[in-house]
Amino acid sequence: MSLISSIRSSLLSSFYGLSLLLSFYRGTVDVDPNFRIRAVNLGGWLVTEGRAKPTLFDGIINSDLLDGSQLQFKSVKTGKYLCAEQGGGSLIVANANRTDPQLWEIFRVWRINETTFNFRVYGDQFVGLDRNGNGSGIVAVSDQTPGKSETFVILRNSDDLNRVRILAPNGYYLQVNAEDVVTADWAGSDGWEDDDDPSVFEMKNTERMEGEFQITNGYGPEEAARVMRSRGGEESDVEEHWNSFIVEEDFKFISENGLNAVRIPVGWWIASDPTPPWPFVGGSLEALDNAFLWAEKYKLNVIIDLHAAPGSQNGWEHSASRDGSQEWGITEENIQQTVDVIEFLAARYAKSPSLYAVELINEPLYPGATIEALTKYYKAGYDAVRRHSSTAFVIMPIRQRTLQPRELIPVTSGLSRSVVDIHFYNMFEDSFDTVQDNIDFIYGHRASQLKEVTMSNGPLSFVGEWVDEWDVEEASKEDYQKYFKAQLEVYGRATFGWAYWSLKHSNNHLSLQWLINNGYVNQTLWQY
Ligand SMILES: *[C@@H]1O[C@H](CO)[C@@H](O)[C@H](O)[C@H]1NC(C)=O
Ligand SMILES: *[C@@H]1O[C@H](CO)[C@@H](O)[C@H](O)[C@H]1NC(C)=O
Ligand SMILES: *[C@@H]1O[C@H](CO)[C@@H](O)[C@H](O)[C@H]1NC(C)=O
Ligand SMILES: *[C@@H]1O[C@H](CO)[C@@H](O)[C@H](O)[C@H]1NC(C)=O
Repeated sequence: MSLISSIRSSLLSSFYGLSLLLSFYRGTVDVDPNFRIRAVNLGGWLVTEGRAKPTLFDGIINSDLLDGSQLQFKSVKTGKYLCAEQGGGSLIVANANRTDPQLWEIFRVWRINETTFNFRVYGDQFVGLDRNGNGSGIVAVSDQTPGKSETFVILRNSDDLNRVRILAPNGYYLQVNAEDVVTADWAGSDGWEDDDDPSVFEMKNTERMEGEFQITNGYGPEEAARVMRSRGGEESDVEEHWNSFIVEEDFKFISENGLNAVRIPVGWWIASDPTPPWPFVGGSLEALDNAFLWAEKYKLNVIIDLHAAPGSQNGWEHSASRDGSQEWGITEENIQQTVDVIEFLAARYAKSPSLYAVELINEPLYPGATIEALTKYYKAGYDAVRRHSSTAFVIMPIRQRTLQPRELIPVTSGLSRSVVDIHFYNMFEDSFDTVQDNIDFIYGHRASQLKEVTMSNGPLSFVGEWVDEWDVEEASKEDYQKYFKAQLEVYGRATFGWAYWSLKHSNNHLSLQWLINNGYVNQTLWQY
């Protein structure tokens, strides 16, 4: 080869290398139609999920009594449960004679501090003193933000933490009398042993929510700030979650293992950093800034995913719901506030070559998220992104659980670079328990669901969350590998790409890092 032609060919190859790099890396250049996102979610990082890292909650006092806990109280004397008559709007009685308490016997916790709580009943009212009575009646009538009359203290027996008394705001304890009436007029003894004591209850917690609301309110503002936020290298004996859970090394790992993107869940409060509304704490924005720097350094694309919208779009802990309520999308103001968050994020990161896509909301759920609210929001959110970037993809999920693959066609039609997201968690489809059943389900039902979302000339399709986990007992490593490969083969047909849930998780099979490090999977599976 002559010198000239070798220079030419090396120029040519570096030109190709560069354009390949650009087209694979950056959404701002015309995208190669064969390009697919192969991403991993950075779950449990900027939006807390207890199961991603359970130890994060260890420092909270009474950490089994967080916001959203669902408590039942059984009188030791009568054996009956406290119950909101009619589910709310009336008296609290103790007439529920059931071995398996139902919805009216559940009290959702709003935590004031480690000992002091409000209780919300099925109909969403708060338990409180009857303002119209003689001062000791207990009712569940208040729809308003709870005040002093709705505030109770739980006293626990230190020898048996689930044997409790409930102190009412009038200074007396709740007691159950013979006619199942509940009153706050027991000045009573302190002993715990007497099973005839009308003021003693067996408490049972049937639900544990461990999201951003729970952790920040559980620690309280000062301690939460210390636990969550980065503190510029200052010595500290606390976790500094945002600084340690995901670090630069992780981005290197992701890129070295042949992935080309990260999907980063964020919460709506990030837009008012550094002083977000109570109980959230500032600092997640700085962590996201770092993520972009690392993504640029290791040539990774970033999908920003609004995982927690104001009011909560699905009532789950990972959308920062306080007590399971789902209040997103009900008012114009709320939708506008959510659009403003998207606008903030798009404006801040539009210039980064790593910004690849903005996902408008994660897993909106029927019935709270109506198709009308979503349509309005998706149009406004799309426009907000476009005001700052003509090239970033805009991702719009269909509603989780109901999974109507075509429900967004009227919204997305005609919107360039729009993407529809669908999540596949087969472990929640508890209908099959063998390896082969699960794998058949992937090639059958999942493949056809994905095919329905994947339209020619329509938006691109994205499997934004999936996991190598199921309900199969005693599955072998080879089983997990087979299952992973089957999913990859099917989800690889998505025209936008896929994102594994998650990079790090206390359940090893939900940690792509663990799967890679333990030889379950490697990039020969997803590189093509
Ligand atoms: C509670 O229900 C059981 C079974 O229906 C019944 O035998 C028992 O008498 C009831 N107890 C009271 C106190 O009503
Ligand atoms: C909890 O809150 C109540 C009501 O505001 C207050 O009286 C009490 O001192 C607080 N307890 C702790 C441990 O902070
Ligand atoms: C107060 O009213 C409740 C019913 O709401 C009743 O059971 C209780 O005996 C009354 N207490 C007094 C001291 O009158
Ligand atoms: C990747 O996995 C395949 C089997 O799926 C194996 O043959 C290969 O050796 C692995 N490669 C590396 C680098 O571990």
